[in-house]
Parts: sequence; C-alpha cells; structure tokens
Amino acid sequence: MSEPASQPKPAKPSAFTSRRQFIQVGLAAVGAAWAGVFVQTRLFPAQSATAEAKPVQFPLSELPVGDTKLITYGGTPAIVLRTPESLKAFSLICTHLGCTVEWQTGENNFYCPCHDGRFDQFGEVISGPPPLPLEAYPVKIVDGNVVVGEEI
Ligand code: FES
Repeated sequence: MSEPASQPKPAKPSAFTSRRQFIQVGLAAVGAAWAGVFVQTRLFPAQSATAEAKPVQFPLSELPVGDTKLITYGGTPAIVLRTPESLKAFSLICTHLGCTVEWQTGENNFYCPCHDGRFDQFGEVISGPPPLPLEAYPVKIVDGNVVVGEEI
C-alpha cells in the first residue's frame, strides 16, 4: 500500500492578510514618523536659552565696530554683532534641526551647513528649511561693558 499523497501544509497565518494591507500599514508608519518630526520641529524648534541663562558681560573694547564676538549664553553658542548703529545678539542654534550656524562676514548673513539654511543679519530666514528666525537676545552697553541677557 502506498502512503496517501501528502497534503500541502496550510500557509502560516500572517499578521497581514494581503499585500495591500502590508503596504497600508507601512505607509501609515512612515506618515506617523514624518508627523512626529514635523511636530517636533514646528512646535518645539530649538530650546530657548534665555529662560535660565545668566547674563554674559564683557568689555565693549573687545568688540570693535563691524566685528563679532562668540559667546556662550545659557549653555549654547551665541554671537554678538556690532554695527555702527547697534549691537545685536543671537543664538547660533539653527531653528530647523538644531545645527550650529556660522556668521559669514563677507556675505553679512548666517549660514547653516546642515541643510543650507540662511538667515540675514537680523536673524530672519532668507532661505532653506528653517521655520523660524534665530533667537535674538537682549543686549546693551552698561558702564563700558556689553551685557547680553538682561532685559533692557
Ligand atoms: S539644521 Fe539648519 S537648515 Fe537644517
């Protein structure tokens, strides 16, 4: 007697009942990931250093007109710009994904090398993906010193 022909085993049940369902779940996962990135970068861009930062002070003589000075304010890199008309201070943290921007003296703007973001001398976005201007800090001259971080 011969053995009965073996029956094909039933396929293992899959978590996905069809290729279409697999693709739908995959697309939903990708969409959720993008939504998470969007929410994080749009609603909570770069963290502000001003909330707990102590003022930074240095002699005005260290910052000639037309020059810049790098400082650390609230634990983050920042810059003070001195023009003939004013003093300005900005965070160097890009409002896109938090890279450090660089001041481009020749071009008179800030450049973020991560995704080619650019900000003008007032910290406003010129081009690229940054959603917000650079964070500006209060700055003033007190008794021959530049003081960054105290409300004016
Ligand atoms: S992190 Fe600056 S442009 Fe993306």
